[in-house]
Amino acid sequence: MTQRDIGLIGLGTMGAMLALNIAEKGFGVAVYNRTRQRTREFMAQAGDLATRLTPADSLADLVAALARPRKIILMVPAGEIVDQQIEALRALLDSGDLIIDAGNANFRDTQRRASALGAGFMGIGVSGGAEGARHGPSIMGGGTRAAWDSVAPILTAIAAKYRGTPCATWMGEAGAGHFVKTAHNGIEYADMQLIAESYGVMRDGLGLESTAIGAVFTRWNTGPLQSYLTEITGEIGATLDPASGAPILDVILDRAGQKGTGRWTAVEAQHLGAPIPVIEAAVAARNLSALLPQRRAGQHSFGAAPQRLPDGALTLSDLHAALIAGKILCYAQGFALLHSASGSFGWSLDQPAIARVWRAGCIIRSAMLNDMAQALGDDPARNLMLAPYFTDLLRQHSPALRKVVSVALAHGLPVPALSAALTYFDMMRTALSSANMIQAQRDFFGAHGFERRDRDGTGHHGPWVPGA
Ligand code: 6PG
Repeated sequence: MTQRDIGLIGLGTMGAMLALNIAEKGFGVAVYNRTRQRTREFMAQAGDLATRLTPADSLADLVAALARPRKIILMVPAGEIVDQQIEALRALLDSGDLIIDAGNANFRDTQRRASALGAGFMGIGVSGGAEGARHGPSIMGGGTRAAWDSVAPILTAIAAKYRGTPCATWMGEAGAGHFVKTAHNGIEYADMQLIAESYGVMRDGLGLESTAIGAVFTRWNTGPLQSYLTEITGEIGATLDPASGAPILDVILDRAGQKGTGRWTAVEAQHLGAPIPVIEAAVAARNLSALLPQRRAGQHSFGAAPQRLPDGALTLSDLHAALIAGKILCYAQGFALLHSASGSFGWSLDQPAIARVWRAGCIIRSAMLNDMAQALGDDPARNLMLAPYFTDLLRQHSPALRKVVSVALAHGLPVPALSAALTYFDMMRTALSSANMIQAQRDFFGAHGFERRDRDGTGHHGPWVPGA
């Protein structure tokens, strides 16, 4: 029997697409799924690529079909199922074989599995949805460098290409790849939320119809906002519901789902003390969207906010500029989080390489990421706000962000991510904040000490007389 180059477990949509992508690039793939029926269906749909695929009815058959050292990709739901698969495989594998978890794992699980399995385990982040998996995802690798090198020929062949450069990069040891993927998803949540808020202002504030809003986003899909998310927003706006003939947006319930990766980003940022308020606002907005009955009760009690803006209060060009500024600030936070994580977890995350790997294939791919790669290349530790190219863009567009947020808030239009971006911008340009009050309070009730502006050293105290 032909020995296949790689094995893949889990023929759900993503796994199936990834297997076909690998086969199409000329590699032999042995595939296994928990249910044989699914494996049969997959093989029947594989067309000409079936000659490079070996269906396995058991894990033992899968392992037997692989060339040594064996490499096996797991594309199964994150969590316990990954641990179960690893346990079942370990009994069949030899040292030197490699298990690659390509699902959306929590990086802490990946760290734990890597410390148990050593060089025999990798966690890789794969972004791009089903289409990306089939024709070129963005791949963020984590594990030992040697493990990465052993699968890099396959992973770079199947990855998306940005002007010929594969979007597949080794990020660092153990959970580094899955951490970068989690940060990607946090940014994904925030970028989507910023777009959704702009849509909301157009719909409720300016009274535009869905199809007209779609056309606006299609126009905006050039220049700084050119991105996959802007592009699909335009297409979504133009799409009609086959059942009712109405714009599809008008029949979709406003209750957002989530598998939790955005939440992980917010949780990890809190652990690290890294401020990512735009991403946190986006996670909170999804949680709030889920409270539909309570929102309905709220509207019943308080009445809906007026929302419709007076003529001329905001223009589409204000919204365009505000979205550019919001997006820069959101990405600045995402990259600052990665910088902070890199130091804390002992990785050496290559910031420009992360921006480069996100330029094609993934959900947040955009023109701006190429400019970010350049800016981070000049100084990876600097907040993107302070990179001259983005400083100029923010100088140009932040006044519109302020105008959009203040007009929207004054009229009851919720814009949590845009306002979080504005507040972050203002706090990050304020040399004298109000935190001296926090320090005074901490010292007053807990003798925690403070630094003084006029003297060196820590541990100064106020002349407090508690209870006086
Ligand atoms: C990607 C996406 C993907 C994610 C979905 C849904 O990079 O391809 O991030 O991994 O699972 O976008 O995520 P939520 O259900 O959390 O919205």
